[in-house]
Amino acid sequence: MTGGAHASERAKDLAKRVFIKTYGCQMNVYDSARMFELLAPLGFLPVEEPDKADLVIFNTCHIREKAVEKLFSELGAIHRTKLMNARRNGGEMIVAVGGCVAQAEGAEILRRAPFVDLVFGPQNYHQLPDLVARALRDRGDPIVATDFPAEPKFDHLPEAAAARGVTAFLTIQEGCDKFCSFCVVPYTRGAEYSRPVVQIVTEAYHAARSGVREITLLGQNVNAYHGEGPDGRDWGLGDLVRRLAELPGLDRIRYTTSHPRDVDDGLIGAHRDVPQLMPFVHLPVQSGANRILSAMNRHYTVDSYRQVVERLRSARSDLALSSDFIVGFPGESDEDFVATIDLVDDIGFAQAFSFKYSPRPGTPAASLSGQIPESVKSDRLAMLQAALESQKLRFNNACVGRTLPVLLEKPGRHPGQLVGRSPYLQSIYLTPTERRIGEIVLVQILGATANSLTGSLEESTAG
Ligand code: SAH
Ligand code: SF4
Ligand code: F3S
Repeated sequence: MTGGAHASERAKDLAKRVFIKTYGCQMNVYDSARMFELLAPLGFLPVEEPDKADLVIFNTCHIREKAVEKLFSELGAIHRTKLMNARRNGGEMIVAVGGCVAQAEGAEILRRAPFVDLVFGPQNYHQLPDLVARALRDRGDPIVATDFPAEPKFDHLPEAAAARGVTAFLTIQEGCDKFCSFCVVPYTRGAEYSRPVVQIVTEAYHAARSGVREITLLGQNVNAYHGEGPDGRDWGLGDLVRRLAELPGLDRIRYTTSHPRDVDDGLIGAHRDVPQLMPFVHLPVQSGANRILSAMNRHYTVDSYRQVVERLRSARSDLALSSDFIVGFPGESDEDFVATIDLVDDIGFAQAFSFKYSPRPGTPAASLSGQIPESVKSDRLAMLQAALESQKLRFNNACVGRTLPVLLEKPGRHPGQLVGRSPYLQSIYLTPTERRIGEIVLVQILGATANSLTGSLEESTAG
């Protein structure tokens, strides 16, 4: 370890490099993008390789045990890099752990990985410039910043920088008050908070001005959004969507993740009336058995979930759904699991994520009796995934012959080929075209697999 003089020299050095590795949900992806912006004024430039970085940040996820174990193995690797760099060129890498594991297990991280210099929670990252400057200056005891600040971080973040792509995430709501019995989010992200409408519209306006055509509104319970509107009233997600749809250039609006309990008439109305709102909704159901839904503390039944789906589909007939499932929740019987498969068959999902139940420390479900053996969880997961995979293929096959609007996002592997996204987030590989990234074009779908579609441009196409 070197002295303070050397460290402050480094703080002034303009050629510093930061590497951020992001785990978990889209909210972490959004947070990592904001971290790069916060660190830029300190002279930090992004790098793609951790071994070239002066500052390495792991933006972590605590949702399942696997995610946490992955972090600790990555930390082992970065420790070796840190030691090697120090030996090779006297470099002093700062290792920081942010995100949801940092919030939940800050002390455990420092116990298992004492070389970590900085631990900060998801609600503290606006303090990064100060925390990093302190870590560079002081070198010594690790810094821990995991208190939930009284003021929301959004009030302290600089204005978002110009977006680089044609799609962008925008966090509009944070935290969760629902306390599903299996879930860590209420503990790692804290209480529910909605950003004011004006802040969101401003961010979306700048994104659209810098070329973003599709925005995904993010929140752990995005449709519980109830931010202060410009008229002083609370606005719901439906109101916000209508306002954002007025922004020139913003052609596609999405939101995730929504909770079945918070799908209100305002949101249904937005799906009916706002063409920019994409007809694709991620609506996690978790289980098809009422007994399990109740033990999960989800506050809806299988029937009320079906009704929500009906209401959405009758507002917009071309609407498709995706979902999340947990198999092997404590007490889940074979009958309960079969009920989940029945629900899947009944609803028909375009896409879905499914997980084995992972007991999380401090959550009520972790100490329930009736924990399910790993082998049973694995069998159920395989069966569920087979059912979901075949639905996905069926949905994709049903697109063949249709004409879909496609937002061109990036070059494909072949010369002249472009890849874009359908309204249903399917990847579409286009035959060579003169059209450009950022355009929305009409594509005739020619072929499908479970993972992507192929198509060619229609003659007369949307702008
Ligand atoms: N707020 C969202 C979910 C956020 S977490 C909602 O309420 O739907 C994303 C997904 O991770 C969840 O939908 C759930 O399927 C899964 N998940 C959360 N905790 C889990 C756990 N302990 N074990 C396994 N999967 C879990
Ligand atoms: Fe977790 Fe439930 Fe909140 Fe979703 S609604 S983040 S699953 S506690
Ligand atoms: Fe993971 Fe935290 Fe998101 S636990 S899923 S990164 S809110």
